[in-house]
Amino acid sequence: MADARLRYLRQQIELGGPEVVTSRTSFPGPLEGKGPAKLHARPSWQKDAPGIPADGITVQPPVGVLDTAGLNELNLDGVAERIRTTFCCDLCPKRTNAVPGDGNPKARLVLIGEGPGATEDETGKPFVGAAGQLLDKILSAVDLERKDVFITNVVKCRPPQNRKPLPDEVASCIPYLHRQLALIKPKVILLLGGTAAEALLDKKQSLGQFRGKVHHYGSIPVVATYHPAALLRNPNWKKPAWDDVRIARQLLDQ
Ligand code: URA
Repeated sequence: MADARLRYLRQQIELGGPEVVTSRTSFPGPLEGKGPAKLHARPSWQKDAPGIPADGITVQPPVGVLDTAGLNELNLDGVAERIRTTFCCDLCPKRTNAVPGDGNPKARLVLIGEGPGATEDETGKPFVGAAGQLLDKILSAVDLERKDVFITNVVKCRPPQNRKPLPDEVASCIPYLHRQLALIKPKVILLLGGTAAEALLDKKQSLGQFRGKVHHYGSIPVVATYHPAALLRNPNWKKPAWDDVRIARQLLDQ
């Protein structure tokens, strides 16, 4: 790119000018594209974004059960501390670190995955392995960063061999998620994969059936999409995932 054009775009970025496109990676196009951020004008995530789909399931956040568990007295740090210091199911004694969740306590967008993997178990942070790196790119493509969002999981301890958490493990751990959501009060929730969708929306059905609708958790809109690990396995899902993410992103701006 000519120096003058590059200078102009840099200046636009600094000034927030109309040609600014802050996405540092394109998704789903060159999502595979490795290497440093490229600085050139390209359409923003809004271009050709799908419309907001019809409403789907509505669930109400639980009342009572959190009182029983003593969670209603805890703030976000208190919830994290409780997760790190207690055992609520058979996954807990096997963990290296519990992974309560991480990010902005005032996030407008909360992302929910299934459960920690090996790297997350080692570090105590959510989505820091390969799936997490893809998630960072997805966020970046809709002009969001980790510091803007809160990322957590249905279960806070790693299931052996990364298997799907069992129903009783989900049932034991999910009160923490409900309390986190009650404290953060996000504007939008993005569910990453079928386990998160089934757990939060309290319904057993395929991810395909959850996708393409705007569900509600109380009054909070909820969008379900593919888990980033599934996108790594099946790149054909990147385009539909990109549409889902842009639906969630639009809801954030409403
Ligand atoms: N997969 C998840 O569902 N959560 C993580 O934190 C990492 C991988």
